[in-house]
Amino acid sequence: MPLVGPVLGIETSCDETAAAVVLSDGRVLSDVVHSQIALHAPYGGVIPELASRDHLRNLPLVVAKALERAELTIDAVDAVAVTHRPGLVGALLVGVQLAKGLAWASGKPLVGVDHLIGHLFAIHLQRGPDPGERPEIPFVALLVSGGHTAIYRVDGPLPSQIHELGGTRDDAAGEAFDKVAKLLGLGYPGGPAVDRLASAGDASRHPFTLPMARSRNFEFSFSGIKTQVAQHVAEHGAPAEPQALADLCASFQSAVTSVLARKLVAAAEQEGVRDVVLGGGVAANRELRARVSQLSQARGLRAHLPELASCTDNAAMIAYAGALAHGAGARDGWDLLATSVTSLARVTRKGRGSR
Ligand code: KG4
Ligand code: ZN
Repeated sequence: MPLVGPVLGIETSCDETAAAVVLSDGRVLSDVVHSQIALHAPYGGVIPELASRDHLRNLPLVVAKALERAELTIDAVDAVAVTHRPGLVGALLVGVQLAKGLAWASGKPLVGVDHLIGHLFAIHLQRGPDPGERPEIPFVALLVSGGHTAIYRVDGPLPSQIHELGGTRDDAAGEAFDKVAKLLGLGYPGGPAVDRLASAGDASRHPFTLPMARSRNFEFSFSGIKTQVAQHVAEHGAPAEPQALADLCASFQSAVTSVLARKLVAAAEQEGVRDVVLGGGVAANRELRARVSQLSQARGLRAHLPELASCTDNAAMIAYAGALAHGAGARDGWDLLATSVTSLARVTRKGRGSR
């Protein structure tokens, strides 16, 4: 891969307005994330129109800050990378339009990045002096976020080199965390709150079951467990007593993370690869991280867990995926489109799960 220097990354696919400057070897020079959580929290989820408007207000400042922290001007970067899929189209458009303007005005190449590829390669980001251990290609990765949950075999950074081995038939894992948290009155986004409460809970209190958990493929279904929690709340009310709340969170989290970890490791064994990788917001979950580490070690696999700042949405992963794509010759024109769908081929069709 020919070396490229610093790449500016821009990310506006959902509720994070982000910009970052990253070197082609993964070293992060700056990483600015402006979260819209407070804006959407009163509604219990992301309101697309509010997201677009807030990106529009903040993105120019966030980009300026990212360049300033990297001590660079736009003239010093080698390319402008931007998330153009998948996501909320109005939100994506804000990033894509600003990236086009910056690239055009500075004469730099424009590189459109698939957000999911950003998550899959976020493990390569180096935020401190230690380069850390990198997974060897090919690796098997579990991408678990608020919008996506799937296991991939990764042979390289291009969409044609990434193969889904199986994914969710209905809700994403993060969506399940968020919906359960909402049912329990824990606010939005719910993942971190459930993670915190679950650590003091007894997971054996509620024997929740997941459809597809025992299937020998790599598909998931998370909407059923949300219904089980909803039924529990309908019958008994949301637990008022702290220990009961912790037990409910622990039981839910244990059911979800155990199936994710088991299928990830089984996929690596099927593919005959030694390196397993986590990516996406739910990869920040402590129980999932512990289960993947333990199970990998027990099976002689190497687990690679991104730092927390590299799990949830950020632009450093977009800059890095852009640098990889640019190094492989990718360059987009001024007709680059924002689109809600990923470029990665799906094997699991959504909408086949039990509701
Ligand atoms: O990757 P991400 O920032 O955005 C998407 O691309 O969707 O993921 C956000 C999701 C949310 O559903 C959030 O609740 C979940 O990641 N999340 C967690 C944790 N931190 C964030 N879920 C479980 N445990 C966590 N510690
Ligand atoms: Zn994401």
